This record gives sequence, C-alpha cells and structure tokens, in this order.
Amino acid sequence: MKNDILKTVVSVEEIDNICKRLGAQISEDYKDKKPVVIGLLKGCLPFMSDLLKYITTYVTLDYMSVSSYNGGTSSTGAITIKRDIESNVEGKDIIIVDDIIDTAITLTNIVEHFKKKNVKSVRICTLLDKPSGRVVPLVPDYAGTIIPNEFVVGYGLDYKGFYRNLPFVGVLKEEVYKK
Ligand code: IMP
Ligand code: MG
Repeated sequence: MKNDILKTVVSVEEIDNICKRLGAQISEDYKDKKPVVIGLLKGCLPFMSDLLKYITTYVTLDYMSVSSYNGGTSSTGAITIKRDIESNVEGKDIIIVDDIIDTAITLTNIVEHFKKKNVKSVRICTLLDKPSGRVVPLVPDYAGTIIPNEFVVGYGLDYKGFYRNLPFVGVLKEEVYKK
C-alpha cells in the first residue's frame, strides 16, 4: 500500500505537532466549558483519536456520518445524514472534527444543521485545509495545516475507501488512478 504513494505531504511528526498544538489551544479555549466533540466519520477517526489525547478539559464524544453532496455547486440542503449523533446538543458547545475542508459545502451545511438544533456555540476543527478549493466561504476555527489543491490520502483520507490507515498524508502515484 505504501508503494502507491508518490510523496508525503504531512509527515507523522508534523501530524503529532499539529495534534499537540490544536489540543492545547482547544484545552485553553474550553477550560471552563464541557464541549461535545463530534467527529465526522469515517475520515475523522485517526485525527480525532490523536487530538483527544492532547485535550485536557472535560469533553464528551459523538459521531455522525453524512453523505457526500451531488455535483458540488449547490451550497444549501445538500447533505443527507446517514448516521446521526446520539447526544442532545441543545444549549451545548460543540466542536466538529473533520479530516479536510475543500469546497466547505459539507461543513457549511453541518454548521447550519446544528444551529437549527440551538447549540450554544459551534466551532470547526480540521486537520487539513484546502482554501483554494472553496465553493462557499468558510474559515475553520482550528486548522492543522494548509495544503495545495491536490488530492491527498492517508490518516483518515481515502481513495475508493483505501489508504485511511496510512500514518501520514500523501499524494498517490498517477498509475494508481489507472488501475
Ligand atoms: P467539502 O469541503 O464539502 O468539499 O468536503 C470535504 C470532504 O471531501 C472531506 O471530508 C473528504 O471526505 C473529501 N475530500 C476533499 N478533498 C479530499 C482529498 O484531497 N482527499 C480525500 N478526500 C477529500
Ligand atoms: Mg470526510
């Protein structure tokens, strides 16, 4: 599987430093709160797991899974919830954790969804940010690192369901797409 990778974009060491930095920042910002950390499956898994180890305040966890939108240009009502959270988030501070923000269509819709549920506050934490891919404007509250507009895999990010278990983020060799 590793042989399919052309180059590393975010290394294991860089990822650990990102988790440390964001974990410390979240711990400080929420030191007097008890936020619900909501991971977007399946891409959030490795990042959320590592990030949580560096969060020192009280948190509860939840997960949701949404279907990808159709086409990519419609910016409202474009998500279907495949698996919803279990907690009641009304009046709660929530932090949504995702692997990457590209067009921002998915997260914009998720934020709207939670605002309708009358959360007290909602913030976004993403490992990767691709600002050049934006279709709707959205600036994440916590972002690990900005990457150029290229397709990446690993550390939660997949191509056809694979590569999520790579411990780093990288770019696939051209030949992989021809298989
Ligand atoms: P968007 O911000 O609404 O475009 O959606 C972001 C989602 O698209 C992410 O959670 C990923 O599932 C997927 N995605 C975007 N860019 C990449 C990439 O470079 N590699 C793998 N998945 C990606
Ligand atoms: Mg995703």
